[in-house]
Amino acid sequence: MSTATFSFSDADFAAIAKLVSERSAIVVEANKAYLVESRLGPVARENGLSSISELVEKLHRPGSRHLEEQIIDAMTTNETSFYRDAYPFDLLKSKIIPELIEKRSKTKRLTFWSNACSSGQEAYSIAMLIRETFPKLMDWDIRIRATDLSSQVLERARTGIFNQSEVSRGLPMQLLMKYFHRQGVHWQISDDIRKMVKFDTVNLIERWPASLSSIDVVFLRNVLIYFSPDTKREILSNVRQRICDDGCLFLGGSENTMNLTTEFRRVQIDRAVCYEPV
Ligand SMILES: C[S@@+](CC[C@H](N)C(=O)[O-])C[C@H]1O[C@@H](n2cnc3c(N)ncnc32)[C@H](O)[C@@H]1O
Repeated sequence: MSTATFSFSDADFAAIAKLVSERSAIVVEANKAYLVESRLGPVARENGLSSISELVEKLHRPGSRHLEEQIIDAMTTNETSFYRDAYPFDLLKSKIIPELIEKRSKTKRLTFWSNACSSGQEAYSIAMLIRETFPKLMDWDIRIRATDLSSQVLERARTGIFNQSEVSRGLPMQLLMKYFHRQGVHWQISDDIRKMVKFDTVNLIERWPASLSSIDVVFLRNVLIYFSPDTKREILSNVRQRICDDGCLFLGGSENTMNLTTEFRRVQIDRAVCYEPV
C-alpha cells in the first residue's frame, strides 16, 4: 500500500517500521499505514509536532530515546482481559495446578510467568485463581512473574487499578466484589493479590533475566502473532530453556508451534490447548 493518502511519506513509514522491528521485533506490514497514522498522530501532537513526518525527522536527532519509547509503546497492541479465553484457566484449575501440587510437594514452590502481560489482567487472574481455589498454596512459595516490553503498561499494571469496562470483561462479579475495592470510577485490586505478582520489564528479543528460569507454567499469549517466523522460533527455543521439563506453556488462541519447533508437544484437554516440553 502506498502512503499517498496519509500525512507521511513511504520513507517515513519505512523509518517507523524499521525502528519498531529493531526495538520490539514487531513486524509493521506494508498495509498498516493506517495504523501508523492512528497510533502516532497523538504521539506527534503530544510532542508539539504537526505531522508524523516531523516526528520521524525528530527521531533522527540526537537524544531521541524517549521519543523512540513513546513510538514503540504506541505501536504495540495492549489488548487483554481477565481470564482471557477462559479455557487455559479452567485447565490450570482442574489439572495443571493439582498435578504440580503433587510434583512439587517437597520444594513447595511454584513459578508462573505471564509473558507480554500488558496491563496485568492475566497475572492477576492467575493470582486470584490460586487464592480462590487452592488456599493451601498460601503457605507455599508462589512466584507469579509478569513481564512486558512497555514500561507504560507495566506502570499501570503495578497499580492494580482498572476501569469499569476492564473489570466488566471476563471477571466474575463474585471475584470483583471479593478482591477489588472502588476508587471513584475505578476499581483497585486488593493488596493481597497485588503483592502476589512481580512485574518487570523484559523485551522478548533481548537478554532475559537469569531469575526467569525453572518456570512451571508459562503464559505467552497473543504476542507471537506480531513476530516473524524466525523471531517466534528463537523465542520458543528460549522458553524451552526456561521452562521445567514437566512444565506447561500456553499460547494465544490463534497461535501454535507448527513449523516453528519440535521442542513442545501440543496437548488438547477438553477445549483447552497447552504445550508440554518434549
Ligand atoms: C495483545 S497484548 C497480550 C497481553 C496478554 N498476553 C494477553 O494475551 O491477554 C501484547 C503485549 O505484548 C507486548 N510486546 C510486544 N512486543 C514485545 C516484546 N518484544 N517483548 C515483550 N513484550 C512485547 C506488548 O507491549 C503488549 O502488552
